[in-house]
Amino acid sequence: MQDSSPIINTGLRGITIASTKISDVIGDAGKLIYRGYLIQDLAGKASFEEVAHLLLHERLPNDQELEAFKTELSGERALPAEIISVLQACPSGALPMDILQAGVAMLANHDPDVKELSYEGSQRMAMRLIAKLSTLLAAWERIRNQKNPIAPDPNLDHAANFLYMLSGEKPDDEVANFFDVCLVLHAEHSFNASTFAAREVASTRAHMYAATSAAVGSLSGELHGGANVRVMEMLIKIGGPDKVEAFVNDVLDSGGRIMGLGHAVYNTDDPRAHILAPMSKKMGERVGETKWYEMSQLLETKGKEAFRQRKNRDIFVNVDFYSASLYYSMGIPVDFFTPVFAISRVAGWTAHVLEEQFAEAAPKPMLYRPESEYIGDYCGPDECSFVPIDER
Ligand SMILES: CC(C)(COP(=O)(O)OP(=O)(O)OC[C@H]1O[C@@H](n2cnc3c(N)ncnc32)[C@H](O)[C@@H]1OP(=O)(O)O)[C@@H](O)C(=O)NCCC(=O)NCCS
Repeated sequence: MQDSSPIINTGLRGITIASTKISDVIGDAGKLIYRGYLIQDLAGKASFEEVAHLLLHERLPNDQELEAFKTELSGERALPAEIISVLQACPSGALPMDILQAGVAMLANHDPDVKELSYEGSQRMAMRLIAKLSTLLAAWERIRNQKNPIAPDPNLDHAANFLYMLSGEKPDDEVANFFDVCLVLHAEHSFNASTFAAREVASTRAHMYAATSAAVGSLSGELHGGANVRVMEMLIKIGGPDKVEAFVNDVLDSGGRIMGLGHAVYNTDDPRAHILAPMSKKMGERVGETKWYEMSQLLETKGKEAFRQRKNRDIFVNVDFYSASLYYSMGIPVDFFTPVFAISRVAGWTAHVLEEQFAEAAPKPMLYRPESEYIGDYCGPDECSFVPIDER
């Protein structure tokens, strides 16, 4: 029996478990950095394809490299017919994150690189996952509404293609650009829960699809990617700006949480929220409904004030806060907010799988295997004696 209690770091907070060259989150300064570049310098200037290339191939592409990468993605966007058939057999009320997670696992069956792990093969698997995940999600929106999926358009970039496959209408440049920025902002965020899940699975030398499907499952929870759905549900429930203050007080007085506020790493506003907020405003103006943006703004102010009054410390907005009203104004179904996060974050997850399995980092990654403290029963000072079933 153990006689000394181990130190338990619940939630692994403050524990550094690996080195990474992919990204850094500097919580006190509110900085997010992808391979050395500040997120503010990438969003709106580099496309999602450029950022995916940066994450996977470790540098921003030049013109020719970008064209080659786009051509590869374009060639991999279409879904195998068998996958469409399986989607058609799924119940229309299925949760989209479950469809995405199952879809990732099914796609493994169609990838010739899964059987033997190599760096080049894993690069190809990563590229195929990035290309296909958004097609899969758009196809699910069509199929669950008894419509035929729309084939990807080789002339459209990644962001525009998703919106086109979702609605059947080609988005104008401003909307496509807004969505592209969203994809860039969500592509990577160091060792968050889903990335850790991907790396943990990758540490067993499982393949890219196994690691990515675990990451999708992890992202679905409301304390992680699921928060953007909860933000929109909260805004809809509040109903209007005049009810925001009472809502904030009710939630905090009953020990609840205001979704979209708080972060495990940032001790200041999430830099991505400041990029999303003006886009949410502009998108609201475009569609002639600014209520959701205005409510979000008020909720941010009142939520921060009320939290400070009660806890005597500050709370800040995170990425999910303004992305909710932005996606809503763009016409993206609310239950797609988290899957839309996933079709972007897949770039980060796959970059981490590559790093976990192939990087020459020091110290080299190894199989994750934490310890636990057994607090279950013993029978007196020793282990229990087994009692056969007919004697219990
Ligand atoms: C993201 C989150 C899990 C980070 O949590 P954390 O830094 O580990 O903080 P904890 O969960 O330990 O909470 C610390 C305290 O702040 C409070 N708190 C944290 N986030 C809060 C929120 N959004 N609303 C109200 N109170 C909150 C907790 O109730 C807790 O209070 P206590 O110390 O009196 O018990 C948390 O802020 C949260 O649940 N936010 C809402 C969900 C969300 O937006 N998730 C998306 C993250 S990108």
